[in-house]
Amino acid sequence: MNIAMMTAQTNLIPQPSGLQQASLSDASFARALTLIRGRLGNCSNQWRRSFITSILYRRGAVCALTDFDGYLSHLERLPTDDPEWQQMLHELTVHDTWFFRHQPSLTCLHELLATHFSHLDSLMLWSVGCAYGEETWSLAITVDQALRSQNRLIPWQIVGSDLSTVCLRKARSGIYQRAQLKNIDQHVRNVYFQPVNDDQVKLAGDLAHHACFTRVDITDNTAPYQAAMHVVYCQNTLIYFGPAEKSRALDNLAAALVPGGILLVAPGEAHGWSHQSMRRIETENRNVALFQRTY
Ligand SMILES: C[S@@+](CC[C@H](N)C(=O)[O-])C[C@H]1O[C@@H](n2cnc3c(N)ncnc32)[C@H](O)[C@@H]1O
Repeated sequence: MNIAMMTAQTNLIPQPSGLQQASLSDASFARALTLIRGRLGNCSNQWRRSFITSILYRRGAVCALTDFDGYLSHLERLPTDDPEWQQMLHELTVHDTWFFRHQPSLTCLHELLATHFSHLDSLMLWSVGCAYGEETWSLAITVDQALRSQNRLIPWQIVGSDLSTVCLRKARSGIYQRAQLKNIDQHVRNVYFQPVNDDQVKLAGDLAHHACFTRVDITDNTAPYQAAMHVVYCQNTLIYFGPAEKSRALDNLAAALVPGGILLVAPGEAHGWSHQSMRRIETENRNVALFQRTY
């Protein structure tokens, strides 16, 4: 679901009487922005006024607070890890995702594991902005298939991270609607998913030992990982950032790589970015964007 779709949907929700979005003062909106940026960092650059306003009105109504500033005061009193803050942040961000979303990048990873990374005796991967986890599990399946096809029994681990703790809870459960698998190859469905009930499936046993999920804000000033990852995979997340946040996030992703490690982003997402220790790798596949850490 994109921002426009989310905004349209939220506008369908009736506002409680007395709350008039149109009459929101510039001062109240500025107070909201200052509060959100103070607690959540600069990630709010991506949000439009009408979008932020409608979400805050809605959250205020859910909390039975009758005016916008009352809801802001309520937020101010709560710690940032309070469920209300986390739900608000979740509703302010876009989480659309699906299994095997960008096949060219996954094929590229499969090939890298057979060539560039064939000498490794362990492997660490990071799935950045993983939303509800479909991306992380798709990567895990790809790695498992690649290593099995090479008869390589090496230890490997994938970290899925996101800003939203609401997303991460679902990602950790590994439980999805059966309908979400409809475009997945039958063999992959049989091997990697097991039924929970008529409507739901769960990632099958072994794979869960290789994946963990954690909250990371990739626009933070402090890089969360230092030279720890062989592969960093980041797709459809940087497009929502302003230029400064995007550049800081990419620098953080570069810092997370071991020398020789690979950053895989969606085409165009790192446009205009350069980094002293990273070089762009040209591939025949124009649908992927690859960078290698050189030292
Ligand atoms: C559109 S989803 C993309 C999901 C997945 N990567 C894919 O391509 O299907 C973008 C995700 O990035 C997360 N996100 C947004 N800002 C972030 C930040 N500053 N740090 C980490 N994750 C962030 C959102 O919460 C959301 O789940």
